Amino acid sequence: MTDDFRFTLRARDGGARLGEISTPRGAIRTPAFMPVGTAATVKAMYPGQVRELGADVVLGNVYHLMLRPGAERVAELGGLHKFMNWPHNILTDSGGFQVMSLAKLRKLDENGVTFQSHIDGSRHQLTPERSMEIQRLLGSDIQMQFDECVKLPCSHEEAERAMRLSLRWAERSRKAFGEQPGRACFGIVQGGAERDLRIESARALADMDFGGMAVGGLAVGEPQEVMLAMIETVMPHLPEHKPHYLMGVGTPDDLLQSVKRGIDMFDCVMPTRAGRHGLAYTRWGKLNLKNARHAEDPRPLDPTSSCPAARDYSRAYLHHLVRCQEILGMMLLTWVNLAYYQDLMAGAREAISAGRYDDYLAQVKDNWTRDGE
Ligand code: GUN
Repeated sequence: MTDDFRFTLRARDGGARLGEISTPRGAIRTPAFMPVGTAATVKAMYPGQVRELGADVVLGNVYHLMLRPGAERVAELGGLHKFMNWPHNILTDSGGFQVMSLAKLRKLDENGVTFQSHIDGSRHQLTPERSMEIQRLLGSDIQMQFDECVKLPCSHEEAERAMRLSLRWAERSRKAFGEQPGRACFGIVQGGAERDLRIESARALADMDFGGMAVGGLAVGEPQEVMLAMIETVMPHLPEHKPHYLMGVGTPDDLLQSVKRGIDMFDCVMPTRAGRHGLAYTRWGKLNLKNARHAEDPRPLDPTSSCPAARDYSRAYLHHLVRCQEILGMMLLTWVNLAYYQDLMAGAREAISAGRYDDYLAQVKDNWTRDGE
């Protein structure tokens, strides 16, 4: 335990890094996958269950929580950790990204974004200062700068405008964060798919005294090779003694390829959302339980899995639950998928520590070609 926010690098294997973030809430073992808990819940999971799978940190969203139940209310009730009964680390995203994908009638200017709630049409404003204030009220351990993320493909001019605005918002966010012992504020590299802009953004943020560095604006419509090229472009310009967080990514393969290139942290709705839509991640690949071919299959998803939901229920039963849209189907498949993602990262940490990360990557991928059997 520590009173400070600290990042320790423990081992390297090629570009891959094994490390540990420590905060007064506990340790975050990296590479880390952060389950998404948008509305103060990792959907369909008990907090204790999320913890048991090995998650050291979950993600919350400014956008959703400011609309419902409101940051001031969460603060009055003792903060987000207490509110959702998750005493471990919480990272919060700053809101801009969600405003752009969810809100109605958005208007963006130098000061921030004004928008209408997607829930009831009420009008709101987010600025770097208000986003940081909300994150402080929530009691977030890792707070993200307010930024603007553009969809890809986009012109160099548009990517440059958003990147420069995000740099100005980074300065305002960092200033508004101030000093909060035991907590950190992370900067977010933007710049679309333009190498020159990515480098400029990374260099400018590296000079701003952030506790960690995120790479944003990826997995927004570009092919995987473009995403990996952007990671390789920025990596030499990120301070190596700070955690590197790739936002909103991704598939199991995206995670392993990004770890290989120096990424330490990830978040993504993929395992939880897929679980609610009848998809299961197993070490044999992704299975669609809706498919009729599972209707009479008595086998579990994976008898060797660490997760009871993958061992103790037949594919036929899971197929039935999914077809009937039963709540238990969503619970079991979310459990299976989060276990898969946590085990994938635990395996990566073990492999980096043993100096055999490339073998691990090859072995995991080889299993995916064996078609779920
Ligand atoms: N989540 C996924 N991508 C991004 C991004 O570029 N910025 C923020 N704030 N959140 C994200």
